[in-house]
Amino acid sequence: MKVEFPKTFFWGAASSATQAEGRLVDDGKGENIWDYASKEYNHRFYDGVTTENTSLFYRDYQQDIQKMQDISFNSFRTSLSWSRLIPNGTGEVNPKAVKFYNHMIDELIAKGVEPFINLYHFDMPMALQEKGGFENKEVIQAYKQYAETCFELFGDRVNYWFTFNEPMIPAEAGYLHDRHYPYVVDFKRAAMVLHNIILAHCEAVNVYREMKLAGKIGIIMDVIPVYPRSQNPADLYAAEMADLFYTKSVNDAILKGQYPARLKEVLEEYDQLPEVTEADLALISATSIDLLGINYYRPRRVKAKECLPNPDGVFSPEWFFDEYVMPGRRMNTSRGIEIYPKGIYDIAKKIQTEYGNIDWFVSENGIGIEGEEAFIEEGMVQDDYRIDFLKEHLTYLNQAMKEGSNCLGYHMWTFVDCWSWGNAYKNRYGFYRLNLATGEKSVKKSGVWFKETIENNGFD
Ligand code: FCB
Repeated sequence: MKVEFPKTFFWGAASSATQAEGRLVDDGKGENIWDYASKEYNHRFYDGVTTENTSLFYRDYQQDIQKMQDISFNSFRTSLSWSRLIPNGTGEVNPKAVKFYNHMIDELIAKGVEPFINLYHFDMPMALQEKGGFENKEVIQAYKQYAETCFELFGDRVNYWFTFNEPMIPAEAGYLHDRHYPYVVDFKRAAMVLHNIILAHCEAVNVYREMKLAGKIGIIMDVIPVYPRSQNPADLYAAEMADLFYTKSVNDAILKGQYPARLKEVLEEYDQLPEVTEADLALISATSIDLLGINYYRPRRVKAKECLPNPDGVFSPEWFFDEYVMPGRRMNTSRGIEIYPKGIYDIAKKIQTEYGNIDWFVSENGIGIEGEEAFIEEGMVQDDYRIDFLKEHLTYLNQAMKEGSNCLGYHMWTFVDCWSWGNAYKNRYGFYRLNLATGEKSVKKSGVWFKETIENNGFD
């Protein structure tokens, strides 16, 4: 049986500025929180490997884009680095950055690769972080100006814009779970950050609309579909809460124009409601997007809480559910997460039934593998496990599309093995292997498979 996709389907991969461009600060780039954490919190990165040591897209972009064409990509997503373009976050624009991004975009277009450009991938300029980052409403205005600058500079050629990658993560990882700088653990501050990111998103979308450019604008969300252990009320409640905090909170705000009423109720009950004005809510309700990106890596299985939380501890969504390890579940042991291809189908159905069947695409999906060098035979990484992973996810996606889901494309994470936020190079994700010793990039078996798949609009 052939799993066939439309001829117009977007095929490619995703990356981000901080994870691929390389070197801490060069050609006038300002510092962002990752450059800063690389220096001051080196121990927080796997093997102490920091942003300096990435796949050097800034230097090698021409060869890299050629490599995209070599495996027939028709689209590619990356982000612009705010601190490269506007080193202090506001004010002066860095001409070398403008030149670089112009060349990058032109090169992509010349090679038949549609650029999907994201404005923010976790990388707050340090000068603005020092003013409180997204906790500070002034930073929303700075972001709006940055967005406007990007639209002015590149909006004549970029047809697909995204305001944020995974808006939940800077809030959750930076202000609650101690994973990203500034390593704060405080729910109310995290909620404020998330709310302000949503407002910043709205401001950028509205500026884009005012400029009357011809392209589309959207956002990229991480969705972790939630599955309860059983249909018992206590397990169902746990699932409801996990979904409410981590998915519905953002999805409803962006796609329905309002926060879930239930979220407000719960936050009020625990005295955790951040400051939200009527004007904020009006802005959220007046903003809508054209295209949604979904990053999907894993399901979240949950069960009723076994121990009551310590009421003196930091309030957290984890007060309401425990993660549940389903017996026999299939794991990606490198990352300690479950592999569940049907999750992509479930997400597609939810977009269809709950979020107005909006146009969307898979903006990230993939499998990170530790020790992938062990799979090299005859000079090529024989990553059959990645091919299986892709086939299974694409088959479920295809099924949802046959049932009416408006999915426009599929981007794998990622193009060349790249640096990840805490894990550095522990897990490899790319269609191309990066030889860390020599910097050489060589196609993996999955890259060859992907090329055939794109050329055939599918696979058997
Ligand atoms: C996603 C991030 C991306 C990458 C992958 C592995 O959550 O968007 O930057 O690190 O995880």
